[in-house]
Amino acid sequence: MKKLRVGLTYDLKTDYEFKENDPPDANAEFDYPTTVDDIASAIESLGFEVKRIGNVYNLLKNLDNLNVDIVFNIAEGKNTRNRESQVPVILETVGIPYVGSDGLTLGITLDKVTTKKILITEGIPTPKFFEANTPGYVNIDHLNFPLIVKPRYEGSSKGLDEKAKVNNEKELVERINYIISTYKQPALVEEFVRGYEFTVAVVGNDQPKVFPPVQTKIDGRANVDDLFYTFEHLMNHHRIEYIFPAFIDEKLQKEMMDIALKAYKVLECRDFGRVDFRMDEQNRIFVLEINPLPCLSKEDVFNIIAKEIGITYNQMIEKILYSALKRYNLIS
Ligand SMILES: Nc1ncnc2c1ncn2[C@@H]1O[C@H](COP(=O)(O)OP(=O)(O)O)[C@@H](O)[C@H]1O
Ligand SMILES: [Mg+2]
Repeated sequence: MKKLRVGLTYDLKTDYEFKENDPPDANAEFDYPTTVDDIASAIESLGFEVKRIGNVYNLLKNLDNLNVDIVFNIAEGKNTRNRESQVPVILETVGIPYVGSDGLTLGITLDKVTTKKILITEGIPTPKFFEANTPGYVNIDHLNFPLIVKPRYEGSSKGLDEKAKVNNEKELVERINYIISTYKQPALVEEFVRGYEFTVAVVGNDQPKVFPPVQTKIDGRANVDDLFYTFEHLMNHHRIEYIFPAFIDEKLQKEMMDIALKAYKVLECRDFGRVDFRMDEQNRIFVLEINPLPCLSKEDVFNIIAKEIGITYNQMIEKILYSALKRYNLIS
């Protein structure tokens, strides 16, 4: 059999050129070169050839002579809320298979407000919210303080620092103005869920494998209460620890896994994804967001799970890649 050639599309933190007035977290979503190296060597260890393509512009430049059977895509894309969809849509246009969710799923899930509307329609619990697109205007009669204010279509805790949690209307208005002017997009205002934080990883398609919840300890605390995962935490890895399996009973674990699977299916995720949760003191579970393009760095959740269930990082990448290869009938 011919050796399969796997293209790799990605955005590197090191390639990002900061512009004037960029917030310090402007390149937060992008990957470290080591993550791309680790994925490449995992794919090579499976006996495939790897062709590094790079970002969406490199893809466009080389579109006519890519010569790959499938692309392993972790590119975040550029500029707009459709940025994560750019690489998948281009690949679809020229008929090249790729690993992971399609442009529609990536576009919807990057936009937290649109995602929440779908979750609510499907009866999936998510914190009550209000979308703020006009500075100075709030409509929060249905919400109880404290609230959290996030950019509408960012990831990687962008726009989240200690002032993102607001306790009164004055703080709220200030924060909405800050998000709109700094991130050039509407703000998502949500009820703040005090208690615990989890994330659930999913791999596969027809009968996706849902892994048990991974609990997030913040600043050494499993009961994170008022704490939340800020950009500062993202930059200081030691302040975040993952507990796997989570410190919760089996019934709650199962409930969270069922919700994660439903969210994964409703948003039509493919091959792999991760669903982020908070749970309050009354054990009420809320979906915060769905990540169809979760970080695959060796420090992150997928490898924490791999270690604990006794498989290697390379085997976890294999599961993800093979899900896509099966979907396209490229292997039996
Ligand atoms: N409603 C909420 N209540 C409490 N904490 C929240 C809430 N929404 C977000 N957070 C905190 O902010 C972090 C990032 O939010 P999330 O919605 O997952 O966006 P992203 O990971 O894309 O930046 C979460 O991991 C959590 O710590
Ligand atoms: Mg998240």
